[in-house]
Amino acid sequence: MKTKYIKIDPENIDMALADEAGKVIRDGGLVAFPTETVYGLGANAFDDEAVEKIFKAKGRPNDNPLIVHIADVKEVSNIVAEIPKKAQIVMENFWPGPISIIVKKSEKIGDSVSAGLKTVAVRMPSNSVARAVIRAAGVPVAAPSANTSGKPSPTSPAHVSEDMTGKIDMIVDGGRCEVGLESTVLDLSGKEPVILRPGKISAAMLEPYIGKVKGGSEEQIRDDIVPKCPGMKYKHYAPKASVYVLEYKKNFDLKRLQKLISEQKKEGKRTGVLSCVNEGNIYTSDVYIYGGDTSEEYAENLFYSLRSFDENGADVIFCPICFSDDFAFALRNRLYKSAAGNVLDFEKNEG
Ligand code: TXA
Ligand code: MG
Repeated sequence: MKTKYIKIDPENIDMALADEAGKVIRDGGLVAFPTETVYGLGANAFDDEAVEKIFKAKGRPNDNPLIVHIADVKEVSNIVAEIPKKAQIVMENFWPGPISIIVKKSEKIGDSVSAGLKTVAVRMPSNSVARAVIRAAGVPVAAPSANTSGKPSPTSPAHVSEDMTGKIDMIVDGGRCEVGLESTVLDLSGKEPVILRPGKISAAMLEPYIGKVKGGSEEQIRDDIVPKCPGMKYKHYAPKASVYVLEYKKNFDLKRLQKLISEQKKEGKRTGVLSCVNEGNIYTSDVYIYGGDTSEEYAENLFYSLRSFDENGADVIFCPICFSDDFAFALRNRLYKSAAGNVLDFEKNEG
């Protein structure tokens, strides 16, 4: 299949181009487009055949439901069976933005979107290109992240292109994504709100509005919990290289890492470090990327960097991190999955 590549400036939306992308979606095709979190791979959510194509293009297991994206709050009523009070409050206060809410689905949403569940995830993105394309489509847009299943989610058009060229109808280039991690998934279909996937909007941000929110914290950063989002049980965010997370609080054991790196080099391995301090390559690795010294900046660069290490032929990537703020939970959730649970304590032992 020939994949058409178009570019839309987020600061100055070309409506004719947005219409072109919207029409492809409306007519049953697949279009990748930017959102504020990661790039999405969109299809008409009311068209089962089109939705099936998403699973094929990504190689995604079909028991993993999709998020339905809208550009206008009033579209929610076509997608959901009912809007609980707390959902209303979240929509009013956090949309448009990086949070998806799960509620009971309407009959219009087919089983391919919901993977047979009685619920549906809905999200209204804030990214201007996403909104223009969804609005132009004139239908709700089912969209997972636009990566091949298992790989890090794409946060740049080049990474979408790498995974999807030849498999989908169109790629809309709208530049880099600013959040860099996928939306918070908040389940509001049960008795109490539960965060199934942590993201930029944290439990602490939600609680003043809707009271106690379960999940979205320490318990979810470990890989061994029973996944509640069907999608969280699969291999995730994995570059080709092996990833090691090196946790520290204050004093990083640099000598220990330098030793590890030299051992790896002796074995013929190409080493990489994704750093959270801007001091240059003090680690002596073959590849060095500075990810950022706040959890926000590091998250923005995380998936992008993991793919860059692959492009640079890294065999093993070390990720020293020390973040402890609210957003760091979401960051660790993704990073620990990329590392398949390889997490080491790298606090330097004094004396
Ligand atoms: O930021 C995002 O959410 C991006 C952009 C494109 O909007 N999309 C995204 O979609 O990350 P995806 O398909 O890669 O992840 C959706 C997650 C999966 O873990 C899926 O299992 C979960 O949401 N999910 C979707 N519908 C659900 C439902 N009805 N019940 C429970 N989990 C659901
Ligand atoms: Mg995904």
